[in-house]
Amino acid sequence: MIYFDNAATTMQKPPEVAQALVEALGSFGGPGRGSHAAALAADRAVHRARVQLAKLFNAPDPTCVAFAPNATAALNVAIVGLLDSGDHAVAMAAAHNSVLRPLYRAQATGEAELTIVPIAQDGSLDYDAFARAFTPRTRLAVISHASNLTGDVYDLPRLVEIAHEHGAWVVVDAAQTAGSLSIDLARDGADVVCFTGHKGLFGPQGTGGLVLNGNVPVRSLVVGGSGVRSFDTCHPDFMPERLEAGTLNAHGIAGLSAGIAFIEREGQAALHAKTLNLTERFEQGVRAVPGVTVYGGHASPERCGIVALNIGDVDSSDIGQLLDRDYGICVRAGAHCAPLMHKALGTADRGAVRFSFSPFNTPSEVDAGIAAVAELARDLG
Ligand code: ALA
Repeated sequence: MIYFDNAATTMQKPPEVAQALVEALGSFGGPGRGSHAAALAADRAVHRARVQLAKLFNAPDPTCVAFAPNATAALNVAIVGLLDSGDHAVAMAAAHNSVLRPLYRAQATGEAELTIVPIAQDGSLDYDAFARAFTPRTRLAVISHASNLTGDVYDLPRLVEIAHEHGAWVVVDAAQTAGSLSIDLARDGADVVCFTGHKGLFGPQGTGGLVLNGNVPVRSLVVGGSGVRSFDTCHPDFMPERLEAGTLNAHGIAGLSAGIAFIEREGQAALHAKTLNLTERFEQGVRAVPGVTVYGGHASPERCGIVALNIGDVDSSDIGQLLDRDYGICVRAGAHCAPLMHKALGTADRGAVRFSFSPFNTPSEVDAGIAAVAELARDLG
């Protein structure tokens, strides 16, 4: 099998991630819920991951990190927790449904107004149009750091600066970039970064969270068990308990911690450079194949390890199935939970075939992918 669906989830993990998970499953009690050895072991693992994440995103301190099951859950917490009735929010057409749907719901219930800044057919964003989207009532800008469809990366510091000039909080959807690209809260200035653990951080599914840049007033979404202040009728209003309720996925978080330790050891930039070499090798190869259309401009100096394409006018799902059945190549095809991006690219009718790479892929796998695309283009063209 050749696995090129790393933008959905990285399947090949550093071996220590599975080891950490298995060890945790056999030795952890409830994190934050007791003072015996097993509970403390879980607590220590969660704290270690908070410290690692605070360092990775350069947050003021580890209590700024709140865990959630994935980026979608984290984005819901951040979006719902920052919007007040009568506010206006700005988002980008590159956004995933994890951003769009919470905002659409707020709009539908009359809680907030919404402006979505368009993306051009080549995947690029007009930064002046982004600036014009703000009104005196804009309280929130949700920035898609990268398109999950094309891998185009948008200029985070520039977008943060524009949003802050208009007095808005900035929430970043870093689902595609956390672990691969540098996101530094002190340098870039974003207020909240929402991440998932199972992609570029090499953790297990069911891990993710939010990182606040200091004292950002995100309100609780889910309330309940917190392990502290049991007799209070209200959920704690201090971090990280404010944004966490119920027993954390300490097993998964231990695996995530091992994934982050791997990145710390190997170097984020070195790992991403390896992914980019493979991505560019693949893109160059498939661009030379007659009948292949590659999407996205990759105009910014940064990009993700993604190449989205179509072959002739064949439905992308058919290509995805043939790649799996005849070549053992795993890709994501069809619609990618990014409806406005598909509309911008002109792929709303048949979706796109997305190849996404990780540092665990090899040049020979990439060459097999190019050969498969070339063969399909010849046979189906
Ligand atoms: N959002 C993930 C993707 O793009 C699942 O595939």
